[in-house]
Amino acid sequence: MENNFDVIIIGGGPGGYVCAIRAAQLGLKTACIESRGTLGGTCLNVGCIPSKSLLNLSETYHKAQKDFNAQGIEFTGLKLNLDKMMANKNKSVQVLTKGIEFLFKKNKVTYIKGKGVLFSKNDVVVYEGEKKTSYKSKNIVIATGSGPSTLPGMEIDEENIVSSTGALALKEVPKNFIVIGGGYIGLEMGSVWSRLGSNVTVLEYLDHITPGMDKEISSEFMKILTKQGFKFKLNSKVTSVKNKGDQVEVAFTNNETSEEEKILADKVLVAVGRKPYTEGLNLTKMGIKKDKQGRIEVNKKLQTSINNIYAIGDVIKGPMLAHKAEEEGIAVAEIIAGQAGHVNYNIIPGVVYTSPEVAVVGKTEEELKKENINYKVGKFPFIANSRAKVNNETDGFVKILADNKTDRVLGVHMIGPHTGDMIAEMALAMEFGASAEDIARTCHAHPTHTEAVKEAALAVDKRAIHF
Ligand code: NAI
Repeated sequence: MENNFDVIIIGGGPGGYVCAIRAAQLGLKTACIESRGTLGGTCLNVGCIPSKSLLNLSETYHKAQKDFNAQGIEFTGLKLNLDKMMANKNKSVQVLTKGIEFLFKKNKVTYIKGKGVLFSKNDVVVYEGEKKTSYKSKNIVIATGSGPSTLPGMEIDEENIVSSTGALALKEVPKNFIVIGGGYIGLEMGSVWSRLGSNVTVLEYLDHITPGMDKEISSEFMKILTKQGFKFKLNSKVTSVKNKGDQVEVAFTNNETSEEEKILADKVLVAVGRKPYTEGLNLTKMGIKKDKQGRIEVNKKLQTSINNIYAIGDVIKGPMLAHKAEEEGIAVAEIIAGQAGHVNYNIIPGVVYTSPEVAVVGKTEEELKKENINYKVGKFPFIANSRAKVNNETDGFVKILADNKTDRVLGVHMIGPHTGDMIAEMALAMEFGASAEDIARTCHAHPTHTEAVKEAALAVDKRAIHF
């Protein structure tokens, strides 16, 4: 009976651990298998959380170096202690991973350490070193996440050629830092090392950064990062990355001119996307179907081709975001418990935690055009927002897209200070089916950055007050 569960979740990342807690709350006998040694998955151990620690600390350092003096905070002897900064980051990670263990105990979730492998529809075998233990479960949830993608012929050594994991643990500030891929990871980690003193060059295959993002935001984002010292080489297809003693040589071809170029750097970050982690689970033998991109196929109820085996998070389609995985984890737990769990994929916010932050939810202008939806645009720049002005953080703007006829908000795209927090209000408004006028008529505290949202909503009807 001890090894018999209602739900076994393979993977203890944001999708898996949240699913486990919700399942246990609903009275299901739940276990979560994790092989990493700590809970929290990529996000907590080597992703979202440690990167946010370094983003926050590097921003403070950068401000102290560049802005404080001019703002009347004078001091001498400012010094970077990278070891201490890394230790601070590691401590935050440790506290948070332990926090999940505590939540498991509190909710009576059994935490099984080891690698889980599917054996049959109701059996999971867990390998931990030499030890092999079998467990039975009425339901199984695959929440194994993803790992970094690489390019053909290039090997990540996590020393000189690093993935996000290595980029979070460099021992010194590289003089020249090349980032392959102008996506979320590249721009966040590029920001960290740029603020700490590296010359950052981003090589991006496409003719713009952050693919899939509203184009106006993405080009403003690139302008702001360029002003901060980033160098961008767009239309650049990286063809090889080679260790050359102390340096790394990156070769790339211009997609338009076919010209080849080679540049050297101390460290190279490969951030060209992530791939679902499905190896060693026994999926093929079990007959669990995958799509062309190697993601596990699921139906609306997140069931795989075997109906008591579910999959959530980065191993299935959709944005590879922790909060999307969490929503799916909760939905699956509720579905297993006989409730109507569901995820609204139209309203999943995305945030790039650079400075300024970029935050988006809903449709982009490009998507609305493609879908032939008539829309109105309301925009408001942070330079006209009093709080942003007094804080000397005036880069960026808020853009609200609303249906031309019904005024319903279809998408919100922002670049500016604190937008990563402000996007929650927009997601909530959209969940409630708000119109731009609803937002415009909602009283927003003064002076706050959130007034930029209210003003953008007013601007949809061409009646912004401060611009
Ligand atoms: P990404 O998909 O966001 O960006 C990868 C970039 O690499 C793309 O712009 C692509 O065009 C480019 N690329 C691909 N092949 C290339 C080549 N040969 N040469 C040059 N450029 C090339 O992937 P990224 O940044 O690695 O992030 C992985 C996942 O993690 C994403 O799904 C992202 O959403 C998620 N993530 C989210 C964060 C957040 O929410 N703040 C932070 C970090 C990651």
